Amino acid sequence: MDLGLADRTIVVTGGSSGVGLATVRALLDEGARVATCGRDADRLAEAAAGLGVAGRDRLLTGVCDVRDADAVDRFVRAAADTFGGIDGLVNNAGQSRMKGLDDSTAEDWRDELELKFAGVLNPLRAARPFLARSAAAGVVNINAVLAKQPEPRLITTSAARAGILNLSKSLSAELAADGIRVNSVCLGLIDTGQWTRRHAAAATGTSYEDWQAELAADRGVALGRLGRAEEVAYAVVTLLSPRASYITGTSIDVCGGVGRSIL
Ligand SMILES: NC(=O)c1ccc[n+]([C@@H]2O[C@H](COP(=O)([O-])OP(=O)(O)OC[C@H]3O[C@@H](n4cnc5c(N)ncnc54)[C@H](OP(=O)(O)O)[C@@H]3O)[C@@H](O)[C@H]2O)c1
Repeated sequence: MDLGLADRTIVVTGGSSGVGLATVRALLDEGARVATCGRDADRLAEAAAGLGVAGRDRLLTGVCDVRDADAVDRFVRAAADTFGGIDGLVNNAGQSRMKGLDDSTAEDWRDELELKFAGVLNPLRAARPFLARSAAAGVVNINAVLAKQPEPRLITTSAARAGILNLSKSLSAELAADGIRVNSVCLGLIDTGQWTRRHAAAATGTSYEDWQAELAADRGVALGRLGRAEEVAYAVVTLLSPRASYITGTSIDVCGGVGRSIL
């Protein structure tokens, strides 16, 4: 099926690794033009080089932190100038915070809420005028099943994720008049840099493969394994496609069955 993404321009935040990088790759494979950002220029350059030559003329990278509204604005404008507009936005950049109630400080709460909300609102504010001029505009917010199913050891991230799911619903209603669809993809445990870093920090002596299998069993993942970043990218690309033109205000779980909510 032709997803209708060829020659459309999509901005993906946090595309130098994991889910963002897999999404960039999937979009380039569909013939889209892609602009992506991250904080570390070397990681971005390495990721771009790893994508190979196919589609490189349709890829723009920019260094910026999604918490910095001015930097995000410059990056998004550069994307629109380079490619002649913007048709889609994937708010992906971020990370989770392993904290419980007793070890989370006021600063942890402030930083976590700032990252999660600025990570959606700054790129959206910058891209909105361009999205409003697109014939098929879509926004996908990368979220987590934690939004609906909080984990005590991830208390700040769970609360922030719930807020972002709520915000996504409001945005879908507010932006419908501009023809902009807004949806969420809620992740379970996806095998990316987040987990390789945690495995390294845990220093258990267990191989990464065995550690992952134990983690999946411990968290009750029905499919018994962590997901792959490209399995998330498939859902993101589907929601961005003009073929999903009647889908807005919803969320898709990509979590291997770890979610317990029936809604
Ligand atoms: N993997 C999971 O199991 C899982 C589960 C639920 C939700 N998620 C969410 O999915 C998203 C992608 O995570 P991932 O697992 O793919 O992580 P990852 O491999 O660590 O990639 C994160 C990407 O975001 C960029 N980034 C991080 N903070 C940023 C900031 N403030 N401004 C701009 N770019 C930033 C990183 O580059 P720089 O570090 O160079 O900036 C990198 O490109 C995150 O929002 C994460 O919270 C992941």
